[in-house]
Amino acid sequence: PVIYAITPTYERPAQRAELTRLSHTFMHVTNFHWIIIEDATKKSDVVTDILVQSKMNYTHLCALTPPDYKRKPKEPNWTKPRGVLQRNAGLQWLRDNRTPEDRGVVYFADDDNTYSIHIFNEMRWTKKVSIWPVGLVGGLLVEKPIVNSSGKVSGFNSAWGMDRPFPIDMAGFAISLPHLLSHPDVKFSFKVKMGHQESVFLEKLTKREDLEPLADNCTKIYVWHTRTEEPNLKFEQKLKSQGKSSLDNMKV
Ligand code: UGA
Ligand code: MN
Repeated sequence: PVIYAITPTYERPAQRAELTRLSHTFMHVTNFHWIIIEDATKKSDVVTDILVQSKMNYTHLCALTPPDYKRKPKEPNWTKPRGVLQRNAGLQWLRDNRTPEDRGVVYFADDDNTYSIHIFNEMRWTKKVSIWPVGLVGGLLVEKPIVNSSGKVSGFNSAWGMDRPFPIDMAGFAISLPHLLSHPDVKFSFKVKMGHQESVFLEKLTKREDLEPLADNCTKIYVWHTRTEEPNLKFEQKLKSQGKSSLDNMKV
């Protein structure tokens, strides 16, 4: 089966750095198709360069978040969901371009997380919906499904939002392509309560007892919800006000 990784991305000073790291991880994964969706009206040179240089199979799309749904610089990050329309564009592309006979698995891979290549080799064999621990998220060192002695998920260790049927981060599950295609209406939405995006999505696709626990029965961490610090550009701003840039003709 092919792994289809759906990655929303947006322009910012660290974008090329993030995507370089991500593409260099993905280059180690065989049978891989990267669906990257820019939060923009048109494809950027940054993303195009990364994709072309990676020599991977890829699909390059755009889906702009409308200004009303975009977080303002001073707003805390939990006030507006991110990646909603971008992930939906990725899902739509699969629905338009793949059939249930195509063997594949779909994974939502944000551009700033850290991924071990082990997780891809495990998720590849997902029958319907697989699940595993995510490090450094939800106010904990790890958020993980609890697996009972018969290998079924019986609960979660999450510290908040325990009213969520699936209290797990976007990086902690994968769906087989035929299973996704058999649910043609399932997508993300701006109307969902904050932090419930993953759970509301999964509710439409599976039941807790049907989850397929990976990463050695959810005892290993192969994905980390890392977040990149905003770079300090105070001197760059100064140069900019003088019509200058430290880059000259370089790309950062
Ligand atoms: C957490 C979860 O890990 C995300 O999967 C979830 O989408 C997000 O919360 C949420 O609440 O919506 P967090 O690290 O806070 O993630 O979010 P980001 O990594 O900043 O954004 C998630 C994805 O959306 C990234 O791939 C990012 O590049 C993209 N994004 C972010 C956009 O496409 N446009 C934006 O304006 C911001
Ligand atoms: Mn993130």
